[in-house]
Amino acid sequence: MNAEVEPPDVASIAAETVDGTAAESVAIGAALVVFGATGDLAHRKLYPALASMAVKGQLPHRLVVVGVGRTQIDDDDFDAEVHNTIAKAAPDHAPEWAEALDRRHVRFRYVAGSIDDPETFSRLATVLAEADKDLGAAGNRLYYLATIPELFEVAARGLAGAGLSSEEPGTFRRIVVEKPFGHDLPSAIELNDELHKCFAEHQIYRIDHYLAKETVQNILALRFTNAIFEPLWNRRYVDHVQITVAEDLGVEHRGTFYEKAGALRDIVQNHVMQVLALTAMEPPPSFAADPVRDEKVKLLRSVRPFDPERLKRDVVRGQYDAGEVNGVPVPGYCEEEGVASDSTTETYLAMRIEIDNWRWAGVPFYVRTGKRLPKRVTEVTLRYHAVPYLPLPRGAADSVEPNELVLRIQPDEGIMLLFAAKVPGSPFRVKTVPLTFSYKEAFDEDPPEAYERVLLDAFLGDATLFIREDEVLQSWRIVQPLIDAFARGEVPLYRYAAGTWGPEEANELMHDSDDTWRCP
Ligand code: BG6
Repeated sequence: MNAEVEPPDVASIAAETVDGTAAESVAIGAALVVFGATGDLAHRKLYPALASMAVKGQLPHRLVVVGVGRTQIDDDDFDAEVHNTIAKAAPDHAPEWAEALDRRHVRFRYVAGSIDDPETFSRLATVLAEADKDLGAAGNRLYYLATIPELFEVAARGLAGAGLSSEEPGTFRRIVVEKPFGHDLPSAIELNDELHKCFAEHQIYRIDHYLAKETVQNILALRFTNAIFEPLWNRRYVDHVQITVAEDLGVEHRGTFYEKAGALRDIVQNHVMQVLALTAMEPPPSFAADPVRDEKVKLLRSVRPFDPERLKRDVVRGQYDAGEVNGVPVPGYCEEEGVASDSTTETYLAMRIEIDNWRWAGVPFYVRTGKRLPKRVTEVTLRYHAVPYLPLPRGAADSVEPNELVLRIQPDEGIMLLFAAKVPGSPFRVKTVPLTFSYKEAFDEDPPEAYERVLLDAFLGDATLFIREDEVLQSWRIVQPLIDAFARGEVPLYRYAAGTWGPEEANELMHDSDDTWRCP
């Protein structure tokens, strides 16, 4: 492992954006090295994010973007490719974005070569030295691994081998690692170990793009900057919690990847565990990186290991058949490109999770996620206990449901509290009604794309929204018994038609209560 070097104190400044408002920015020069520079992720997410950040004045004072890829192109081709991508990503913004990149003096360099060839890294070292000397990159480097996961370790080794990983005093060298981080607990341990041979933990930024969503961060704001919610956030008042991550999309062109992942690795191990941790953790002493991550890890450690004897009752797996989503006929999972015709990969997963601590003992957390469900919606619902006794005649209170607090992560971002109110007129009747907060209505601006937050925080050296080593291992610890049981065929794979809310059997998860899934 590298000698632990204290991260440099990188100043952030309030920069003037084009519309005159202040924005966080990075008051230094830096190079952003994108491995997989001609690939899908870089084009879809990173380059548009950079352009939008340029408009907001959030890029480092001097930025050199160095693409690394196997495609044989030169600096000018790469520059043109990025500008084309940006133009296509948001035609309405294209001129403004291109102008902002120029005005901020963003420069593009390209290194053609294979990541497993040490020569590529020698050439990269030369380009970076030039960027420092001639273009103001100041020795600061953000290495972004937008490659297939198999190349994460290889890239880290290449960087260390070329002397590009250790931090000189007053500079930073950070490596941003995309998901999936490993494919099970042993491989995640091994990947951590390999990365640590080249980079110290404080240099490693593991991404979970859910953390960069404004509404996911708002879980912290709601819980810990308001006095009224926290007292009601525990077993005394909460009957159970539901977390839904539903997608109407199928596996798109990612069938080959998804075959090896399934819903468990693709969504539950990372996004669901992060949302669960933020929803259930104890208050941190501050919102800085380690205090927040300490509390998340503590919570993840409290998640009760799945009981092998109860797996069939606590976990429901499903796979979609052909059906109709939003009125359009769609094929079944096994007919998708890159998927085996007899695949047993799950595209739906529902489970009951127990948390063994004083706050949550006895409060089940029901989690479900799936592809080809009726709509795209992510939300967290706290369902409260019913009142102990209703002082109303039967019929006057038939439609009174227990209170619910719904945190809508996406789309229609907002918060809803369901409570009972008197129906106007006589006789005295009550009905459940919503009290709604909508982000769009309350704030007159669009939330930034998750990847803008990711890049800005990585430049600023704020790791709060990135996953620490022990966190990633804890979440793999939780799902590992399921990985094993699925591989042994111990948990049945139920069918559901595309466009429905998953297999019927998921309703039985709540077998020991009258609970039902919320219909989002
Ligand atoms: C990714 C998964 O991590 O998250 C995809 O690999 C999934 O399969 C995506 O579609 C969902 O992200 P979002 O931001 O659209 O909810």
